[in-house]
Amino acid sequence: MNFENILTESENGIFIITINRPKQLNALTKSTIKEVGAAVKIANGDENIRGIIITGSGEKAFIAGADIKEFANFSVEQGKELSAHGHDVFNSVENSHKPVIAAVNGFALGGGCELAMACHIRIASDNAKFGQPEVSLGVIPGYGGTQRMAQLIGKSKAFELLMTGDMIDANEAERLGLANHVVEQANLMEFTKKLLTKIIKKSPYAIGKVISCINDSYSNDKNGFDTEINEFGNCFGSADFKEGTSAFLEKRKAIFTGK
Ligand code: CAA
Repeated sequence: MNFENILTESENGIFIITINRPKQLNALTKSTIKEVGAAVKIANGDENIRGIIITGSGEKAFIAGADIKEFANFSVEQGKELSAHGHDVFNSVENSHKPVIAAVNGFALGGGCELAMACHIRIASDNAKFGQPEVSLGVIPGYGGTQRMAQLIGKSKAFELLMTGDMIDANEAERLGLANHVVEQANLMEFTKKLLTKIIKKSPYAIGKVISCINDSYSNDKNGFDTEINEFGNCFGSADFKEGTSAFLEKRKAIFTGK
């Protein structure tokens, strides 16, 4: 598939999605979001891919938000449609059964911070800045930011960040639990790939179930504890469980198929 706003590459089981609009600090247009959704779908359907990294092009920005130029004259209906589309795609990132890591290489603002928060893990370069500045524009986060920010860092700090629109640096993001790690920019992709490689060597079947169990605890219509009971049991019927336990007992390394 040909993309106009993103680059994709795969190496060693990892699919890398790079938002590629550096002149606009990788601002997300509607079609860019659509392409991200399509790329995540491709990665999830490819059995050679076991994990996904999302990053931005250049050294200045991960993503500086939704493209303000594009939505400046939108109507109420167009605003709702834009938000609903963003929700669909960002939910598909969060619910990807393969692990998704954001390599945040600079500004992660508005929709950019929201996309990073939809990923399972965030690694920040030392120049990264996170924030939800929407209230400065007379709007609110529209891609899940009001929900995921509070889930990740707690209601009180989320209120402060969303109401002031302040940016925080990478170290503060790590302190708040928004970023998992802070690394030098030159080391960002290497560190992120190393972490993801460690994860994808584990059972893909089990990793997918960890993702659903945690996500279900934040869902209104599901109970994460019930999901855990059910999926724990289901693991016993998987080839990965047979392989993992046999490998342990035979004192060898497991070779997982994800089945
Ligand atoms: N949308 C469209 N264009 C953007 C953009 C955005 N979100 N962010 C940056 N750009 C463009 C600028 O317009 C500029 O383009 P021109 O050269 O054509 O003028 C180019 O990127 C470089 O940006 P700056 O010259 O502003 O760079 P800077 O270093 O001076 O400032 C910045 C960097 C602080 C990130 C600043 O660009 C900025 O504040 N950007 C907007 C951030 C923002 O408000 N994001 C939230 C958007 S709303 C949203 O995301 C809603 C939602 O939840 C769905």
